[in-house]
Parts: sequence; C-alpha cells; structure tokens
Amino acid sequence: MNREFAAALEEWYDVNGRDLPWRHTRNPYLIWVSEIILQQTRVAQGMDYYRRFVERFPDFGQLAAASEVEVMRMWQGLGYYSRARHLHAAARMMAQAGCFPSTYAGVRALPGVGDYTAAAICSIAYGLPYAVLDGNVFRVLARHFLIDEPIDTTRGRKVFRAMADEMLDTSSPGLYNQAIMDFGALQCVPGVPDCLRCPLCDTCMALRHGRVRQLPVKERSVRVRNRYLTYFYVRDAKGRVYLRRRPEGDIWQGLYELYGTVADQPCSLDEAATLFPGCRLTCCTSRLKHQLTHQTLYADCYLVEGYAGSLPEEGEWVPENGLDSYPMPRLMERLLETVSPAGGLGKMKKRDV
Ligand code: ADE
Repeated sequence: MNREFAAALEEWYDVNGRDLPWRHTRNPYLIWVSEIILQQTRVAQGMDYYRRFVERFPDFGQLAAASEVEVMRMWQGLGYYSRARHLHAAARMMAQAGCFPSTYAGVRALPGVGDYTAAAICSIAYGLPYAVLDGNVFRVLARHFLIDEPIDTTRGRKVFRAMADEMLDTSSPGLYNQAIMDFGALQCVPGVPDCLRCPLCDTCMALRHGRVRQLPVKERSVRVRNRYLTYFYVRDAKGRVYLRRRPEGDIWQGLYELYGTVADQPCSLDEAATLFPGCRLTCCTSRLKHQLTHQTLYADCYLVEGYAGSLPEEGEWVPENGLDSYPMPRLMERLLETVSPAGGLGKMKKRDV
C-alpha cells in the first residue's frame, strides 16, 4: 500500500465524492444492483433506473419472484440487456440458496459478475481487500505512475493488476476503491483534465513529463462499423401490428421489435417495396441513429398497409394501442414514437433517457 497516494485520494473523495443512493448502504444486494447498472451506464443515467429497480425489487427474493418480461421492462432503455437477464438468474440462485453469497469466490461465480464487479461488491459491502480495475482506475494509475504499457494486452493488464493491488488501502478497501473511481470520473478525466487544480499534481509522473493526454495507451483502436436497420410497421385491416421477439445469442435478446432487416447499406423505398408486393409503403421516420460500443446503427421505418400475406410464425399481431406493454430496445421505442403519434403510439411512455 502507498499510504500517501491512498490518503490523498480518500481526502479528495471526502470533499468531492458523489453522494449516490447506493453509498448509504452496505447491503450487498443493493450494491450488486448498482454495480451491474454501472457496468455499461453512466452514473447520471443509471441513478433513476437504480431507484425504480430497487423500489420494485427491494431484495433478491422479490426479484427472483418476478417474471422475465417485467424485469426486462424495468431495464428498458438501459441497453446491454444480458445484464438484466443475469441479475434475474442470479437472484433465483440466491433464492434457492437462501442468501447473498458472502465470499469473493461466491460473488464472482454469479452470472454477470466479473473480476471488477466482484471486487467492487466485496470491498464495499464486506470490506474485503480486493482492488477494482476499471477504465477510471487504469487512467489514474497510468498517469500518476506513468505506466505506458497498453491497457488492452494481457501483459499490460498484469502490470496494472499488480499496481492496483499494491496501491489498495487494505484498511478501507471499499472507501479507497470508490475514491479512485470517482477521482478518475471527476478529476483525472479523459482528454484534458484540470491538472492545475489537482491535489495529486505534485506526485503525478505523467504531469511532470508532459504526457497526461497520451495516457493510458491502447494497442488497438477499435473500428466502429455502420449497420442499417430497416423496420416495417406492418398494419393489418384490424389495426394490429406485427411484432416479434429477438432471438437468443444476439443483441436485444428477448426484447420485442417490428419486422425488419439489417444490412451494411440502407434499404431504399424501391427495395423495400419488393418485399411487400402490392402494398402501399410510406417512409415514416427520418433516420434514427443509435450508438453501440462497436457499431453505429441507423434505423429507418416504413409503414406497410394492405399486406395480406403471411409473416414468420414466431411473431405476434398486437393491437396498436397495446404495444407499450412489450419490452423493447430504446431504439425501437424511439422509432415507434415517431411513426404514429396519433395511432396509439403517442401514448408510449416517454422516458428521460
Ligand atoms: N463506477 C462503477 N461503480 C462505481 C462506484 N461504486 N463508485 C464510483 N464509480 C463507479
């Protein structure tokens, strides 16, 4: 342990740390839920979801007893839906066992829990000496100790792991872990941090060598690819819309969407018309953009009227005004809000994300 480094971070945290709802508890269930939400979601966005989720499911028993559709509905808009499925599966395991696991190995074995999340839960809830290593921690350590090993190689990760373990304040691991994460999120930010007003500026090696902006180093820069989604709002004569459930093993697994196609190019009105011969097609949205980690999705939607043929059997015909009871990806929800504000879809719940 490096006492000065830990003490400086904890002192900074005492004054500047964020007052977050899950920081007023040591209940492992609540801390677990918060950490799963924060895996791929920013604190500002995750907070309302956290509040709603734990209000509806205050303990693992209530979560285990809920239906999958309800859990997915609560998660709707947060993205990375396997997190919700894993939470639900893990809660059912806890309900069987009768308790939340109390050891690092037990927590680490839960579905959806990796090294980072297990260390966060065990240090914060149980005071166990496990150091977290997330994007914020990589950045703080890389800069402060001028580590120019890449953070995305096995070798580099070993170096950072050893450094993180060495720096951990073993007398207050939960406090220290949250301090270094908040320090990375608020002070030692990506890009151009405010080093003049940093309490660690005297000992920061990257600052001394003018290398703050270059750190941390990555070996590979990830290529983001464009994908074009074309959805069809197929409405039958009874005012019902065709909806289907996303298959397993893909993004948005288990959520509902309109009938659609995906390609590396957008699908023109003429091309779309060939899929629905004899129907009236209207392009009914301006293109929506949705950013995922490694893909930029663009979505168009065509209204299809007068279709009398069959559609794949796995789907269902749903009354237009009943669409909002189906869990959907946020992109689908946005698309439906613009397709037909007057046709029942205007009543789709608007969310603040
Ligand atoms: N990011 C994820 N979990 C966090 C926590 N407990 N404190 C600060 N940032 C976090």
